[in-house]
Amino acid sequence: METRTILLAVHIAMAAGWLGADLVQYVLAPRFAREGHEVQTAWARQLVWMHERYYAAVAALLLASGVLLVLDGDWSWGSDFIWVGVGAIVGGATLGGGVLGNLSKKRLAALEGGDAAEAAEAERRYLPIALVVTVLPLLAILAMVDKWSL
Ligand code: HEM
Repeated sequence: METRTILLAVHIAMAAGWLGADLVQYVLAPRFAREGHEVQTAWARQLVWMHERYYAAVAALLLASGVLLVLDGDWSWGSDFIWVGVGAIVGGATLGGGVLGNLSKKRLAALEGGDAAEAAEAERRYLPIALVVTVLPLLAILAMVDKWSL
């Protein structure tokens, strides 16, 4: 099996890992919201972990496999699709890891402290930013599959 095959398989799996986790969040969040305080707090704790560890690991592997694909293949660093991918990862790290990570922590602290209004406010601010962060891998997939500027 070629190196490219393995790298591309890892690369695509990590893209799926990012997008898939986002979609699972959208599907499960309203279901958890209908559960009791204890379940909501446990879910909020897992979201903090997701932002600190899961998405960080997935993004690091996505970036590393992408860089290795460029080095292994005949791709030019000047190709737009590569920079759309880099931009998606930088955007995901700042908006996702930074802004959403902080909002998740705020929501968890509010739930643990019994401040329902503060928890609801953090959740209200979370959704529009989360949607923007989900568009990033979608855009990168379009750019990669269509090989923009090749
Ligand atoms: C959110 C970020 C990214 C996503 C969702 C993503 C997704 C994908 C997908 C789905 C493919 C397969 C396209 C196809 O075979 O038609 C691909 C290919 C590729 N990606 Fe990415 N990618 C991302 C970031 C990056 C980065 C940061 C780099 C480089 C630094 C990169 C470099 C490449 C290269 C060179 C290929 C072509 C590999 C080949 O066909 O030999 N990607 N990417």
